[in-house]
Amino acid sequence: MKTTVIAVDGFASTGKSTLSKHLADALGFTYIDTGYMYRAVTYFALKNAFINEQGIEEDAFKKALHKTSFSWSKDKSSKTMFFNGSSYGDELRTLEVSSWVSKVAGLGFVRDHLVYQQRILSQLGSVVMDGRDIGTVVFPDADFKFFLIADAEVRAKRRYDELRAKGEEVVLEDILKNVIDRDHQDSTRLISPLKKAEDALEIDTTNFSIETVLDHMFSVINPKA
Ligand code: DC
Repeated sequence: MKTTVIAVDGFASTGKSTLSKHLADALGFTYIDTGYMYRAVTYFALKNAFINEQGIEEDAFKKALHKTSFSWSKDKSSKTMFFNGSSYGDELRTLEVSSWVSKVAGLGFVRDHLVYQQRILSQLGSVVMDGRDIGTVVFPDADFKFFLIADAEVRAKRRYDELRAKGEEVVLEDILKNVIDRDHQDSTRLISPLKKAEDALEIDTTNFSIETVLDHMFSVINPKA
């Protein structure tokens, strides 16, 4: 059976997850949030003190990481992603995790492990996968590739509103700094840096609603609809 892969890459808080989730729901595809995977292993490293005042204890982290895996919940209808048998939520979106995740994502052994896991998780069928390197590294032959950008201030405000709505005490300037730092680290790292695949369609979401961007994406995926 021919399966379809839709890759949605781009900068932090450009709307990737929301758009990808909507696309997957509408098409009946599985949604895979690879940022969640990088955040989950960062949280794992923080909890197990592989990240401490000295920085990242790479050898110990690598050894422990190789014993971990991602899987889908047994309940086929919910398609919840599990990391080492547990599912995670808001604890992965704190500023502490956000401030370490790009450093963790810059480690070669982390990327190798997660790219491998991402390809296994995709074997279920057609997928919409969002991240930074999906169209360039994970699935260079993806059927459709989108690359999302937006002004940093607008992205920081979106993330700020999201965290405040969840009751987190955050300061807009800290979020903006984190967004700019992550942009820099994600796009300048040596391994699989964030960059637009040559054949990806770039969409600037700064001034458009989710609905407008979705319509545009659908018109590309299904031009006659
Ligand atoms: O999409 P997000 O903000 O939840 O991603 C968190 C971090 O994970 C992001 O700053 C970079 C990293 N990441 C990555 O390097 N490659 C991916 N495919 C997805 C995320």
